[in-house]
Amino acid sequence: SQHNPVVEKDCSSITPPYAKLTKNLDLVKRILDNRPLTLAEKVVYSHLTNPEETIPVRGETYLKLSPDRVAMQDASAQMALLQFMLSGMPTTAVPSSIHCDHLIAANEGADKDVAESIIANKEIFDFLESGAKKYGVAFWKPGSGIIHQIVLENYAAPGGLMLGTDSHTPNAGGLGMVAIGVGGADAVDAMAAIPWELKAPNVIGVKLTGSLGPWASPKDVILKMAGLLTVRGGTGHIIEYFGEGVDTLSCTGMATMCNMGAEVGATTSLFPYTTSMRSYLNSTGRRAVSTAADANSQFLRADAGAHYDKIIEINLSEIEPHINGPFTPDLSTPLSKFKDFIAENGWKDDLTSSLIGSCTNSSYQDMSRAASMAKQATDAGVDIKSQFLVTPGSEQIRATIERDGQQLVFENAGGQVLANACGPCIGQWKRTEKKGEENAILTSFNRNFRSRNDGNSQTMNFLAAPEIVTAMAFAGKLSFNPMTDSLKDKNGKEFRFNPPTGDDLPHQGFEAGRATYEPPSPTPTPDASVQISIDPKSNRLQALDPFQPWNGEEFKDIRVLVKVKGKCTTDHISAAGPWLKFKGHLQNIAENTLIGAQNADNGKVNLVTDVTNNKEDTIPEVAKSYKSQDIEWTVIADHNYGEGSAREHAALQVRYLGSPLIISRSFARIHETNLKKQGVLPLTFKNDSDYEKINGGDVIETQGLKNLAPGSPVKLIVTKPDGSKLSIDAVHTLSEDQLQWIREGSALNLIKKNVAA
Ligand code: F3S
Repeated sequence: SQHNPVVEKDCSSITPPYAKLTKNLDLVKRILDNRPLTLAEKVVYSHLTNPEETIPVRGETYLKLSPDRVAMQDASAQMALLQFMLSGMPTTAVPSSIHCDHLIAANEGADKDVAESIIANKEIFDFLESGAKKYGVAFWKPGSGIIHQIVLENYAAPGGLMLGTDSHTPNAGGLGMVAIGVGGADAVDAMAAIPWELKAPNVIGVKLTGSLGPWASPKDVILKMAGLLTVRGGTGHIIEYFGEGVDTLSCTGMATMCNMGAEVGATTSLFPYTTSMRSYLNSTGRRAVSTAADANSQFLRADAGAHYDKIIEINLSEIEPHINGPFTPDLSTPLSKFKDFIAENGWKDDLTSSLIGSCTNSSYQDMSRAASMAKQATDAGVDIKSQFLVTPGSEQIRATIERDGQQLVFENAGGQVLANACGPCIGQWKRTEKKGEENAILTSFNRNFRSRNDGNSQTMNFLAAPEIVTAMAFAGKLSFNPMTDSLKDKNGKEFRFNPPTGDDLPHQGFEAGRATYEPPSPTPTPDASVQISIDPKSNRLQALDPFQPWNGEEFKDIRVLVKVKGKCTTDHISAAGPWLKFKGHLQNIAENTLIGAQNADNGKVNLVTDVTNNKEDTIPEVAKSYKSQDIEWTVIADHNYGEGSAREHAALQVRYLGSPLIISRSFARIHETNLKKQGVLPLTFKNDSDYEKINGGDVIETQGLKNLAPGSPVKLIVTKPDGSKLSIDAVHTLSEDQLQWIREGSALNLIKKNVAA
C-alpha cells in the first residue's frame, strides 16, 4: 500500500494547560504548607475545580475535579451520549472522542470482520457518528483501532487528566497522564462541565532500579506486581513509578504497565515525564506537546521527599518472564517454574491458541520483539503448533508493521492478522473449540476471567508478554520454556531461541495507514444541524425523555417494592452479560432491574408480592405494574447498597420505573451520587435497626422534604398493611448543588435550564 507517513498534528486541544495547572498547584501547595507532593497528587490537585477552597487529604477528602479530556468506547458511549443529549449543550465542555472497537468480532480476518460488524451494529455506529458530528466529538470509525492505543497515539499528554469509559483507560499513564476508567455518568459530568468527584487517592510508590534483561519486558514487571499486590491491592490508590529504572523503559512499555494496573484495582497508574515519552510524542506528530512538557518538566515529576503510603521496590535486572493465570490475573508464575506449575495441577500440556496484541501489548516494540521470535523459528524451519492470532491496536501500528515486514513474518509463520479492534479480548471470538472442552490459550492481553475470551468456562487463559506467547506458539506446549528448552527444526536438528530483539520506535517513522481509517480532526467543529439518528423501532437504542422535576411537595403513598437483604451491588441492580446489548435502550435494559436482589421478606431472589393483586412476580414485572398504575415505589436496602461499579444504569433504571427515593442502611458513595444525579433521593436510616421495622408492601410518606436543606432531617411515616403507623428518622447527604438536581428532576435538567437561561 501507499506510503502515508504520520504528520504533525494540531496540538491546541491536546497540550495540557500547564500555566493554569501550575498556578492551581501553587494555591494548593500554599494550603498544604508547601509539603512535597507525589506526582499523582500534583496532577490531580492541579485539576481541582476550586483549588482555593479545598484542603486535600489522601484517602479522605472528596475532590471536585475538572478533567481535560474524555474518551469513550462504543459500548459505554451509547448511554453517555444519550444522556449528554439531554443537557441542551451545543458542544462538549472538554475535547472528547468515541472509539468503535468493542463491537467488532474476530471471525474470518480483518476486512470481512469489520464489514460484518458494521452491518450488525449499523444503528449503533450511525448513532454514535451522528452524535459525534453534532457535538464536535472525534469519531474513530470501526476498525481504526482500540481506544487506549488510539488515545496513546493521539491524545495522551504528560500531566493531563482524562476520564475514559473503560477500565483500561490508565494505559495513558505511560505518557504521564492521570487517566481514570469511569462509568458513562462520569463522562457526562466532564462533557457537561459538572465537577467530577474523586476521593483523594492514596499513592503506592513503585521504585524501579536496574534495567530489564534481554528476555524480560515491561509486561513481566506488571505480571509480577499483580502477584505481589493481588487483584485488590491497588484499590483506592494510584500507583506511581519512580527511580532510575524508569528512564530505561520505552513509553509504550510503561503504557502496558499502567494498562494492567487495572488488574490490581488501582485508580490509575502513572510515570514521570521521560525522554522516551518525548521521543514517542515526537514520532506520533506531537512535537508541540513534548516542547511544552519539556518546559514544565519540574511539574511532571514528584517533589523530592514526597511521601508514599507504601513503597514497593523492584529491581528490573532481576525480573524474569512471567505467566499469569488461569482465570485470575494475580496468579503469577515465573516462566522457569511454569512447567512444574502445570504438572502439579495435572493440567493438559497442549496450547491450542496463542494471541498477541490488544490494547495492552500492541506497540511497535511488542510487534517487533514478537516478530523476531517468529522469524527465528520460521528461518530454522520450525512449524507453528498452535493457532496464532495478531490484534494490532491501531491502523497506525498495522500499517507500520506491514511496511516494516513484521506482519509478513507473522503471516509466513501461519499467523492471522485480525481487525484493529478488541475482538478476542472481549469475547467476540468465534472459535472452533467446542464449548465446555478443556483447553489452554496464551494471550498478551490483560484480563483472564473465566469465559472472557471465547465464552467457554473450560478455556484456561494465561497471560504473558507477546514475545513469550509467540515463542510458545511454536512449541504448542505450556511446558516449553523458550529461554532454556529446544525444539526440532524440519531436519530434526535442535533449535533454540535467542532472546527477542526489536526497536521501540520505527526508524522510518510511523505510517498513518489506509484512508478508510483517516483520523478525525483533533478539534472537530460541532454541527447543530445534524440530526441524531435513532430508529424509534430499534430495540438497542432509545432516546431518553427528561425525568420530571420534583413538585417540591412531600412524597405520599410510596410503596415498598422490595426490602433487600444483604449485598446488593450494581450488578444485582442492573445485571451485565446478555443485557449489555441493551445499554443504549433504557426501557429494554430496565427489564433486568434488581433481578439479583434478595427479598428479605421471603428469602427469595427476584420474587416480590404485587400488593395491587396479591400475586407474586419478579421485581421488574411488579415495578412495571406499579408504574402503569402511577404508583411510586421505593427500595429498602441493607448496607453499602450499590457497591461495585459506577454503572449509571443502576440509577437510571429505578428512576425510569418510578422510584423517587431509595432508603438504605448505607450507600456505596458513587451509586448514591448517581442516584442524586438522576433525581432520586437517597435516604439512610438514622437508627440502623429501623431497617427491621419496614417490609415490602408498606406505604411510606415523608415529612421534612418541603424544607429540604443540607443536613436537614427527614421523617418517614410508615403505614403497615393492618393500618398501624410508625415514624422513622432518616438523613440525607445532599449538598446545595445536589439539592438542585433533585428539585429539577436530574443534574442534566439543571444543566439544560442553565444553558437555556
Ligand atoms: Fe478492548 Fe480488551 Fe483492551 S476489550 S479495550 S482490547 S482490554
